Amino acid sequence: MKRKMFFVLTLAIVLPLALSAQKVKNQKPRVKSLVVFFSHAGENYAVGNIAVGNTKIVADYICEATGADQFEIVAEKNYDMPYAELIKVAKDEATRGELPAYRGSVDVTPYDTIFIGGPIWWGTFPRVMFTFFKQNNLGQKTLIPFATHEGSGLGSVVSDVKKAYPKARVLNGFSIYGHEVRTEREKVTRWLRSLGR
Ligand SMILES: Cc1cc2nc3c(=O)[nH]c(=O)nc-3n(C[C@H](O)[C@H](O)[C@H](O)COP(=O)(O)O)c2cc1C
Repeated sequence: MKRKMFFVLTLAIVLPLALSAQKVKNQKPRVKSLVVFFSHAGENYAVGNIAVGNTKIVADYICEATGADQFEIVAEKNYDMPYAELIKVAKDEATRGELPAYRGSVDVTPYDTIFIGGPIWWGTFPRVMFTFFKQNNLGQKTLIPFATHEGSGLGSVVSDVKKAYPKARVLNGFSIYGHEVRTEREKVTRWLRSLGR
């Protein structure tokens, strides 16, 4: 009788543990997303002199809402100059197709989904972001472009990302006015919800 009781008790304890272990084994581990972005603090259009760049604010919202990691593309070059001057520098870079260097690196292999964000500079992302595209293979991933701007929306960002990564799954993208990011967080939240994140 004691032996039977022992057998039943053991089964009652061991069986649920074995089943839950099996469940964990069969579950795909939740892979984190990554937010890669460039953002320029300092004097900017419509917002004056800002301590934190507009796109950085959106990148932080995405990370807070989704638990994503982030990599900030920081140019080696110093863009700390008045807006009127930066406009000229950026136009010159775009015209010449320059690929300015950036600091550091990130291992993109663990990430299935990568948000890619930046300000619109002359209709698309700043050139330093194209340096990142050249140096990082995101070919098999889901890419989600986003941009902050002052009238151009996404500009040619989505087609430029598709051009850089023809084999990636590139989603439609999201844009928000730079001067709205501090007061309209809900727009970002709603967009993320629409993506199921
Ligand atoms: C060099 C430069 C070029 C810009 N070109 C555009 C543009 O073509 N279209 C637009 O809508 N906004 C343009 N803007 C405005 C920025 O896209 C906008 O202020 C953005 O929110 C800045 O983001 P950040 O603070 O993350 O750098 C430009 C700003 C700068 C500094």
